[in-house]
Amino acid sequence: MPVAEMRETRRRILQGVCSLCVCVYLGAVIGRSAARVAETEVEREPSWQDRAPMSVDYGEETEQSLETETRPSPRFAYLVEAGATTTPPPELVEKTGLEDVFISVKTSGQFHESRLKPLLDTWVPHVQQQTWFFTDVDDAELHQKTDGHVINTNCSSSHRRDALCCKMAVEYDTFMDSGKKWFCHFDDDNYVNTARLAELLSGYSPQEDWYLGKNSIRTPLQIMDRAHNGDRVSFWFGTGGAGFCISRALALKMSPFASGGRFMRVGDKIRLPDDVTMGYIIEHLLKTRLTVIDEFHSHLEQMKFIRPTELDKQISFSYSQYADEMNVVDLDILSEEKDPTRFYSLHCLLHPKKAFCPR
Ligand SMILES: *[C@@H]1O[C@H](CO)[C@@H](O)[C@H](O)[C@H]1NC(C)=O
Repeated sequence: MPVAEMRETRRRILQGVCSLCVCVYLGAVIGRSAARVAETEVEREPSWQDRAPMSVDYGEETEQSLETETRPSPRFAYLVEAGATTTPPPELVEKTGLEDVFISVKTSGQFHESRLKPLLDTWVPHVQQQTWFFTDVDDAELHQKTDGHVINTNCSSSHRRDALCCKMAVEYDTFMDSGKKWFCHFDDDNYVNTARLAELLSGYSPQEDWYLGKNSIRTPLQIMDRAHNGDRVSFWFGTGGAGFCISRALALKMSPFASGGRFMRVGDKIRLPDDVTMGYIIEHLLKTRLTVIDEFHSHLEQMKFIRPTELDKQISFSYSQYADEMNVVDLDILSEEKDPTRFYSLHCLLHPKKAFCPR
């Protein structure tokens, strides 16, 4: 073999060995950072892509797995279990009017002006007596507008995980003190169709364990359980931004993990935001499944994909803005200038006699 050729061969072999080394090294690095990503997965705020719109674009697989997670609405299941007849006499029929529902709206001082006005002008007056706003500042004007139904949680006004858990802890404790049968949480960018909410809740018994909400990720969340040897646990959670409801029976069982600020401690331990912490306590610790209610909608979904003919059947709505584009329901009753969130238009659809609705 000529010297030049031998050198060339040696060079090629050396090159091959080097690239192999680089590959092995890269593989190790990538593997390790993937493990790290998995470990810290829940520490970052889930992005728009992570929490993709469930009701809009079901993957086949998701639909199937959701089906097994969704339970029917056995209105009198608890009577059946207790050996009672399947058709209870009418006087036993449990009526859950909205007076039995504690509604919390999570907000923050910076949004009192912009976000709460459309709520106070539309759906809140329908449930004024049982609705409470949880915020982080004293606001005399809001206090007056809501007839004193504002609670300054003294939590930080940041949108960080611990501040969110802090507010949820106060919401939970306030609900427990209220004696109401249902705890329904919403955000300050939610419109609530109160008639449909009442209808939904009348299908479930508050004496049974119920966690009603809307998931926003396609698969159950997987985390490393730091409290238990880093075991992997997976569970569903109802997105806070879509609203969720918890029966009193379930809320009572949550008490060892949630009352008196313990909710915050659980959130701290596993470093989860408020709605995910709720899912962790209910699904993982208490083994009660999330019942998926498709009529709840968060701003992580595309509002325009809710069919106009189906709008009146939905329970919660939201809105958001991405760059110049508004993510709002497809409804044109009042002008965009007057009604950028579309909440007034929604209210006119459901309550056409309102003074601000066109005749
Ligand atoms: C917030 O702080 C004020 C003043 O110290 C106190 O009166 C109030 O009870 C606190 N609120 C909560 C929810 O703890």
